[in-house]
Amino acid sequence: MKIYLASGNAHKRGEISRILYPHTITIPSDEHIAFDPEETADSFFGNALIKAKQLFEITGFPAVADDSGICVDALNGEPGIYSARYGAETGAGDDKARNRLLLSNMEGITERKCRFICNMVLYYDTDRFYSVQETLEGILVTEGRGTGGFGYDPLVYLPEYGKTVAELTPEEKDACSHRGKAVRKLACIIETLQ
Ligand code: IMP
Repeated sequence: MKIYLASGNAHKRGEISRILYPHTITIPSDEHIAFDPEETADSFFGNALIKAKQLFEITGFPAVADDSGICVDALNGEPGIYSARYGAETGAGDDKARNRLLLSNMEGITERKCRFICNMVLYYDTDRFYSVQETLEGILVTEGRGTGGFGYDPLVYLPEYGKTVAELTPEEKDACSHRGKAVRKLACIIETLQ
């Protein structure tokens, strides 16, 4: 099946395509489709729904959207749905700057539980859509480690692997990640659709 992915993030595309193979994953820029929806909802689900619905309405094809982020308990769940924009108003413009900001906001705090959350919506047809939300629990490090993955991966330590998410192989990350778990559940739904 041809499925549009409501994202320009090459890392997300890679992680989702690997699991949804042999379905073809197309992102708007592959077909020069202008796509820049405003994420105005107050939840991962709400924002994923906005993106998937809008892309379905533009293309007429099934569309998947992923809205994800990192939630830190000691910061009352921040940055949460604002993970991609964390610190933007004070100039934190890239992954490294966002990671530095998060570590500095956690300085001296010993309670370091956090989780990645991924909500995925498949907008299959007018009035037919499906949502899955999954998590990956971890501990926020005091100093980033590893070069794999993207975003906040170097900051999240997984005791069961003895590694940060950025130190996992792509296969290891797919097996345990919030996104991997959500896409595999979505894949089961896709197989039932007609
Ligand atoms: P979105 O594109 O609005 O869903 O923003 C997602 C943001 O959350 C990304 O830009 C990352 O900062 C963060 N994020 C989501 N998933 C991951 C992940 O798997 N690893 C690291 N950071 C992630």
